[in-house]
Amino acid sequence: MSMLAADVPVLRQFQRAMVQDDREKAEGILRQALVQEPNRPAIHVALARLRWPGPDYLHWLAWFHRQLQPAVYLEIGVESGKSLALVQPRSHVIAIDPAPVGNPLQACPAKGELFCQTSAAFFSHVPPDSLLARSGFDLAFIDGDHRFDTVLDDFIAVEKHASANAFVLLHDTLPLTASTSGSIRATGFYSGDAWKIVPCLRALRPDLRITTVPAAPTGLTVITGLNPGSTLLREQRDAIRQAYADLPSEMAVDHPHALLMLGRNDPAWMQDWLAHVR
Ligand SMILES: C[S@@+](CC[C@H](N)C(=O)[O-])C[C@H]1O[C@@H](n2cnc3c(N)ncnc32)[C@H](O)[C@@H]1O
Repeated sequence: MSMLAADVPVLRQFQRAMVQDDREKAEGILRQALVQEPNRPAIHVALARLRWPGPDYLHWLAWFHRQLQPAVYLEIGVESGKSLALVQPRSHVIAIDPAPVGNPLQACPAKGELFCQTSAAFFSHVPPDSLLARSGFDLAFIDGDHRFDTVLDDFIAVEKHASANAFVLLHDTLPLTASTSGSIRATGFYSGDAWKIVPCLRALRPDLRITTVPAAPTGLTVITGLNPGSTLLREQRDAIRQAYADLPSEMAVDHPHALLMLGRNDPAWMQDWLAHVR
């Protein structure tokens, strides 16, 4: 995360307001700094932690691994493997990333394979002898290209390989600000328009069970009730892309509860949700 020299006094003022327990003032300081210069990743990170307190997305990823103990875990977009380090030792990992950083499997406690290609290339020729083709996945984490069109394609491709009772986690579905959540990247801190997948699935796939954990930095959506035989999204793909292309992110930034099916950032709440949807 890059920090500008000008961020230091802002973050000091912010921390002083937090020590005084004045969250409103603290948020105002960060937002004012972003008005002056909209591309300040360190300020965005502080704002995200203020906006979504509690466990962050990596905490939740580890939590789902422990709860679900997936036999096969699929991850799209692994980068350096920070998330792969949270896998349970008995899982089998299928990792996909066209530009991994170093060896992402190095810190991973489980066995697995890394496919250095885009998710689209991988799913166009899934190795027929792979565990994914033979038994499907139990837990998948989609965290690759954060543009809605790609997230939609990733979800369509992933769902085809879901085992019974599988779960999909989608990263970056809770936009922090409008400038960090459009389809074109203009800031260091960026979650893209991946968030559109939630209203899209909600509208078109009422058979799915969906909730979004308001966890920093930009949310984690949990989906189950997957149907590998469903062809609806694939058949309507072009119309969906068109329909969601111009959906403004302000709506999701200002009204996340209504649009993104927010749950609670609380393991007890999630336990109840899981018991209800399983
Ligand atoms: C935010 S990083 C992933 C971080 C990682 N999941 C974690 O939590 O530590 C996004 C990664 O997605 C990869 N990526 C970008 N486009 C992709 C695509 N089309 N298919 C698969 N991975 C992609 C990038 O190379 C990058 O390493």
